[in-house]
Amino acid sequence: MRKRVVMITGCAGEIGQALIEELAEQGEHDLLTLDLKPLPPELQGLSTHITGDILDDSLLGRLVTEYEIQSIYHLAALLSTRGEFTPELAHRVNVEGTLRLLKLAAEQSEWQGRPVRFLFPSSIAAYGMPNLEVKARDSKVREWDWNHPTTMYGCNKLYGEMLGSYYSKNYRQLAAERPVMLDFRSIRFPGLISAFTVPSGGTSDYGPEMLHAAAQGKAYECFVRPDTRIPFMAMPDAVKSLLLLARAPGANLSRHVYNVTSFSLSAEEIADLVRESFPGTEISYVVDEKRQGIVDSWPADLNDGAARQDWGWEPEYGVKRAFHDYLIPNIRERYAGEPAASDS
Ligand SMILES: NC(=O)c1ccc[n+]([C@@H]2O[C@H](COP(=O)([O-])OP(=O)(O)OC[C@H]3O[C@@H](n4cnc5c(N)ncnc54)[C@H](O)[C@@H]3O)[C@@H](O)[C@H]2O)c1
Repeated sequence: MRKRVVMITGCAGEIGQALIEELAEQGEHDLLTLDLKPLPPELQGLSTHITGDILDDSLLGRLVTEYEIQSIYHLAALLSTRGEFTPELAHRVNVEGTLRLLKLAAEQSEWQGRPVRFLFPSSIAAYGMPNLEVKARDSKVREWDWNHPTTMYGCNKLYGEMLGSYYSKNYRQLAAERPVMLDFRSIRFPGLISAFTVPSGGTSDYGPEMLHAAAQGKAYECFVRPDTRIPFMAMPDAVKSLLLLARAPGANLSRHVYNVTSFSLSAEEIADLVRESFPGTEISYVVDEKRQGIVDSWPADLNDGAARQDWGWEPEYGVKRAFHDYLIPNIRERYAGEPAASDS
């Protein structure tokens, strides 16, 4: 008999680590996790972990024969900055990899005779604001506004959303018998900030990097202008939103793709919050015009009214709570005991 599992790809990344912890604590499902990297020691034992590539067809084929996959959190991806250095590789991982996972979920849905749930984290990178005037004027964008991404990653995410919608509505639409469709649900995340992991490869990384540097007593050179504004969210809210959407009754859902957000801050407002908690922190601005261009193309804020209405989305961490109750105390503790950079 095949073992029933919930599968998480890209599980060794920032969201994956937080999601494993939460799902393992809830204890409702056995977890099957897949990543190019092993899990950090503190998470080992919480799942059956496979170190491997989502592009490895023989590995995916083997998983299908061994497991009954009830739902999939498909997190594996190359993020926006990393993707611009290796765009074709980003396309392979973000598009071809997603296609393989969707096909796997479609086959599992057919075999199990019920829709496998497929959760896909998309991103504000799926948007492309044409200029700063429009960005300032049209700040709270809705899901269907400005879908003109400027990065390979953003293009990949937008297309991944479309592929998912196709597989859950129109897959093999000309076949004599309609197959059992998978159940695709996607969230467009703003920049995420975790107290426990440090991001790499993204273009909203300046927010979390500033905090983690300050807690270590290091000066930080921010790569975007002080007035640069995008939406952010604390990691526990990102995990909460994924789980809420995963559990929402299908009848309540009016779309496949939903915006979620918590607070919108400029780089300077983040710097002020950081300096408030870590006085004396040196934050300067050395603008990287290319990365600046990418962040300028992302919306200043998101309209997440559909998520609120359809599945009761509401962030637990507004800006004050995110910084004062979650980020600052946990980041402080994380680096406590390490010599501050200024001591050396
Ligand atoms: N962190 C954010 O701010 C943010 C915002 C919006 C959307 N997202 C999306 O959420 C998901 C998770 O993001 P994250 O922040 O945890 O990213 P991350 O970079 O921390 O983690 C991604 C993980 O995917 C793995 N991976 C990459 N290629 C792989 C492959 N070929 N096979 C198997 N594993 C592979 C990496 O090893 C890594 O552990 C991604 O899809 C990302 O696009 C993240």
